[in-house]
Parts: sequence; C-alpha cells; structure tokens
Amino acid sequence: MFKLINDDCFNLMKTIPDNCIDLILTDPPYNIAQYSTGNIFLPKRKPINNDIANWDKNSINPHNLVYDFKRILKPTGNIFIFTGYNKLGQWHEAFDKEFDTFQIFIWHKTNPPPKIYKNGFLNSCELIVCLWNKGHTWNFSTQKEMHNFFECPICSYPERLKSPYHPTQKPIKLLKHLISIASNPKDLIFDPFMGVGSTGIASLELNRRFAGCEINKTYFKACFDRLNSVYH
Ligand SMILES: C[S@@+](CC[C@H](N)C(=O)[O-])C[C@H]1O[C@@H](n2cnc3c(N)ncnc32)[C@H](O)[C@@H]1O
Repeated sequence: MFKLINDDCFNLMKTIPDNCIDLILTDPPYNIAQYSTGNIFLPKRKPINNDIANWDKNSINPHNLVYDFKRILKPTGNIFIFTGYNKLGQWHEAFDKEFDTFQIFIWHKTNPPPKIYKNGFLNSCELIVCLWNKGHTWNFSTQKEMHNFFECPICSYPERLKSPYHPTQKPIKLLKHLISIASNPKDLIFDPFMGVGSTGIASLELNRRFAGCEINKTYFKACFDRLNSVYH
C-alpha cells in the first residue's frame, strides 16, 4: 500500500494525524549550492558535471520540521535524515533536545566523483541523522550490522532514472538496510522529500506501507510511474 502527494510537505504534514508514522526516512535539500565551485574542467576531456539543482537553494530550516516530525511519529518510531556537514549543527540544535538519542550514521560511497588534481579529500561520505526515543523499533541481527557505517556505490543505471534525471537519487540497497533495521513488515514509512521515490520502492520491497510527498511535478510524476510500474 502506498500514497503519494504532490505538495509542499510543510502544508501536508499539518494534515497528518498524531502518532501514526513508524519511520520517517527522508533526504531533504542539503542547501550546498553556496559551496559549489561549478563544473570541474579537465585538460582535453569533457568537464565533470557538478551542477547543483535549483531546488537545493530552497532553505530548509530543521526548527520548522521538528514539531510535526515529533507529533506524527509513534512513540516507538525512528527518524533518519540525510544531510550535509553544513547543516548538521542545525539538525542537532533543533532535534537533539526533543529525542532520547541523536546519532550519526555514515554512508560511504565506494565510487565518489574523482578529484583529479588531488587537492582535497573525495566527498565519499554522506551523513544521516538518526533519532529515537526509548522503546523504539530496532532489529539488529549481528554486531556487524550495528556499525553506524554502510558502504555501497552511488545509484547507477539501470536503477538510476534517465528521464527525469534526479541528481541525488539514493541507492535502494542503502535505504533497505536502514528500513530493515528500524521498522517491521506492514509499518508505515514516511518520506516528506521523496524525490523520485527511492524510499518508496525500498519500503514496498520490504513489505512496508509507504507515504511520500514531493513538491516538484516532474519528479512527482516520475515517482508515481516508478511505484505504479512495480506495485498497483
Ligand atoms: C535530496 S532530494 C530527495 C531525493 C530522493 N531521496 C530520491 O532518491 O529520489 C530532495 C527533494 O525534496 C524536494 N523538495 C524540496 N522542498 C520540498 C518541500 N517543501 N516539500 C516537498 N518536497 C520538497 C525536492 O524537489 C527534491 O526532489
């Protein structure tokens, strides 16, 4: 079962009842456009595309999300939020005092974009803020699974959509790892910034229910078609 809404999630969340979501797994804009130095030019080769999507410029203030996230989440629920290092402090400031635990999970990309001039570290890690209260769902089977670190490549074809291309489409393998640990079959997973619906596919593949919201019409349609082509 899934429900997709084409709206601004700040409006949508006001209509969601209290204590009904088991897991919020979401990937809001990182707001990194101000740090981008544009495309990477290479001698005698095509430049590496380093465009930042326009939607990344819409500033997301974690203080404006904490009330509704807390309200709609069940007491046994978990929250995972992808973010960049530039916003980590804001997420901590807004959310840490509202939950028993605030932890960081790292996704290590095994194939990050190269830096051919060797003038800095590769951007090979992404941060995921993890939040929960006492009594939350946690399904670890091994100590290895408990590492707050997961390695897998960035999304590539055929999983990655060609049209529309979404610059931050997340890999299903990573999302399934997080969903398996932090929810149970038939649980309701919510992604308010769902892009082209990767959290939805991962949720349904694991027999969870999914509710998602996306403001951009083109991404929303792609997500709708993607989920409908697999699940009716
Ligand atoms: C980082 S992307 C998510 C990508 C997604 N994880 C995937 O794999 O496709 C963030 C998405 O949030 C959407 N967005 C930005 N502001 C929004 C808002 N206020 N309400 C709903 N969606 C929003 C953007 O259009 C963008 O597609």
